Amino acid sequence: MSTAVSPGPSSTTSANDHPQGIAPLRAGQGHEFFWRRLHSLTGIIPVGAFLFEHILISNATAINGATAYAHQVRFLGSLPFVLGLELLGIWLPIAFHALYGFYIWYRGRANLISYPWMGNWMYSLQRWSGAIAFAYIIWHTYTMRFTGVDLHEVPGASFGKVQHELFVTPLFLFYVIGLVAASWHFAYGIWLFCAKWGITVGERARQKFLYICIAFFFLLSAVGLASMTKFRSTPQQCTDQPCADQIEQAK
Ligand code: HEM
Repeated sequence: MSTAVSPGPSSTTSANDHPQGIAPLRAGQGHEFFWRRLHSLTGIIPVGAFLFEHILISNATAINGATAYAHQVRFLGSLPFVLGLELLGIWLPIAFHALYGFYIWYRGRANLISYPWMGNWMYSLQRWSGAIAFAYIIWHTYTMRFTGVDLHEVPGASFGKVQHELFVTPLFLFYVIGLVAASWHFAYGIWLFCAKWGITVGERARQKFLYICIAFFFLLSAVGLASMTKFRSTPQQCTDQPCADQIEQAK
């Protein structure tokens, strides 16, 4: 896989094409133009939008305790056509974005965009954070969605099921690394997206917007860590149907 990229605006093909050093996505580059645009767009919608909701809304309800979390999981599980929504709105777009992302990495498409200021670092970080997020997402989806108690059927066991994983320290650390990697990838990805689609124009606007994206990275990471800390600091809750049923009946 390619790890090198031209570091600055002055030394890249794209920079010669474009005075600001960021190569916009252009028509006229064959069918690859379409796939690159789709890759770029899926990073924001729906994949990024889902990550936003997942960290800042759904998982953040855990900060208010097990009951609040169970309510949120029950609400999500009760959405109409939930399996179709998951498949078309989450799994397929993530699979496409990730696999095409690996393809871009493999092909070393360094000249499609120059990563300014810290060039190689940012280029590599975007790829490695994506790869780490990929490993984490596969593990997390497999264990939470496809093993153990089905949380759509038994939302009352959701807090306990997450706790069961997070109480294992190596798994907790894996979650922290996955969270930070996905947060960085998305936050810096917003910056890349805005540069590529001509939303931020000019060096000053892009530099200022970078600070906003970095602040957003800290927000995502901090809220995610606060939720995880709550799971770890609360005594173990129900992890199976009979226990969750008992609590439901006692209400
Ligand atoms: C947590 C889920 C993910 C989110 C929210 C996400 C979001 C984004 C966003 C918003 C961008 C910027 C779009 C652009 O370049 O115009 C991006 C770029 C990128 N993503 Fe992801 N992504 C995710 C997972 C992945 C995975 C698993 C990979 C696999 C390696 C990956 C690989 C890439 C690559 C290589 C780029 C840079 C493309 C370039 O420099 O031209 N992403 N991502």
